[in-house]
Amino acid sequence: MIEKVVDPTTTEAWTALKADAARMSATSLSELFAADSSRVEALTVETAGLCADLSKNLVDEETLDHLMALARATGVAERRDAMFSGERINTSEDRRVLHVALRMEREDSVVVDGRNVVDDVHHVLDSMAEFARSVRSGAWRGATGQRITHVVNVGIGGSYLGPAMAAQALRSSANADLEVRFVANVDGADLERETRDLDPATTLVLVSSKTFTTLETMSNASLLRRWVIDALGESAPAKHFAAISTNTTAAQEFGVVPEAIFGFWDFIGGRYSMDSAIGLSTMLLVGPEGFDELLAGFRSMDSHFRSASLRQNLPILLGLLRVWYVNFLGAQSIGVMPYSSDLGRLPAYLQQLQMESNGKGVNRSGDPVSYDTGPIVWGEPGTDGQHSFYQLLHQGTHLVPLDLIGVLTPMSSNHEGHDLLIANLIAQAEALAFGRSAEALAEAGIPRDQIPFRTFPGNHPSTLLLLDELTPFTLGSLIALYEHEVFVQGVVWGIDSFDQWGVELGKELATTIAREIEDDAPLHDHDPSTAHAIERYRGIRRRWR
Ligand code: F6P
Repeated sequence: MIEKVVDPTTTEAWTALKADAARMSATSLSELFAADSSRVEALTVETAGLCADLSKNLVDEETLDHLMALARATGVAERRDAMFSGERINTSEDRRVLHVALRMEREDSVVVDGRNVVDDVHHVLDSMAEFARSVRSGAWRGATGQRITHVVNVGIGGSYLGPAMAAQALRSSANADLEVRFVANVDGADLERETRDLDPATTLVLVSSKTFTTLETMSNASLLRRWVIDALGESAPAKHFAAISTNTTAAQEFGVVPEAIFGFWDFIGGRYSMDSAIGLSTMLLVGPEGFDELLAGFRSMDSHFRSASLRQNLPILLGLLRVWYVNFLGAQSIGVMPYSSDLGRLPAYLQQLQMESNGKGVNRSGDPVSYDTGPIVWGEPGTDGQHSFYQLLHQGTHLVPLDLIGVLTPMSSNHEGHDLLIANLIAQAEALAFGRSAEALAEAGIPRDQIPFRTFPGNHPSTLLLLDELTPFTLGSLIALYEHEVFVQGVVWGIDSFDQWGVELGKELATTIAREIEDDAPLHDHDPSTAHAIERYRGIRRRWR
């Protein structure tokens, strides 16, 4: 379906924001704070277990008004409502976008083609809970009658990053005698390392794949099926495999028994699926009750996103700030720095969420856009990052707005370490924003020739996101916040945030090249550099095949 979309650059708000950018480049965060004693209060939003202090961003009320006007002119609220009501807002694939239905209450309803999809969601949740309880209690036994002690999730992209991030984030909430491991890459080193100390008799493999066709996942799943059959016999996969997929027929053909197949639907994007059956590994770790809490956290942020006014709406504010930095202040990337080892995989998870969703060069009408879209997302846990790349953040030449994330309740018994961790989080936000001036250094007696090197210009924006605790609930709320702020950016840019055509070409060429490597026949249709790389590989491969 081809749609006419608003070109955001033609709106009055866009023109006003350009003027704001000129004004803002002549001011500083110090001046913005000095001019408004209620800035922190005015720019702090507390909702769904999160407290977000946006005051260290390079905006004033006038700019925020213009950003709100941009949201109105591009139809953010209307498109949000269209998503929640199940309209086909993934236009290039002609699909609905209903990850929000995954966390609706049993009595809610979204009717699609005459069916209430919320009923279907709860039907799957109920069967996942039954399965999870039986594995966790030991009622589900392997082919030799032993209980399951290890779970290997085989999946990649959205069928891996969310569950792996959640397994680490919720390790303190995990309450099962189970260890969950992840194998994503087709690089055999991963599979070998993750399974070499495992006993097939006590291992359950979850094949997680929306399509059940992904090369990496199917290749690893087949190797593990062989591993299980070789050790335990032809009928053993029935007791050692579960599958999570929209393609339940393919899962059955692979040999998974119907009661261990958990479905979802084409209106759930891979990167938006960690709270679907793709989260089975999470449910195995934290139990059905913990998973319910996670869903409640998602739901709480959904409800805020649907009902809060634009000016108090955290996903809308965060999404608009990204647009502001990318299109008006020239930022190319955003950094996400969780000051929590448990949230260590969050940046990798957000890379797919943001970059696969908003890394688009044409709008929903298929026209090339004349402005930048999705920023590059990167990050590492604090304080590790401070000892590597923070130098560039403090004194380099790039504008990199940061999300600095803190968990205020310690996740370990080392309370002194936790105090230091939080002190570093708060100190970084302060140092980045306000820096240290040449005058201050001179006053402190720093020799004149050293002052240029030791000056911190400041004015580096950040958002401080604080969670009182890291629980399934607050994790759900945090992830829903990011899902929705990514959505807001996509609406303003007029792009389809829910397709991912950009991953297809590489997959297609890899299939051709894999065949050519195998055939060892003369090469056609490649540029000289590609042909050279294939030939070189074939040459080395002859030595070890
Ligand atoms: O290659 C990109 C992608 O299609 C992602 O969007 C998706 O999350 C991932 O591959 C895995 O796909 P599947 O779940 O179908 O195996």
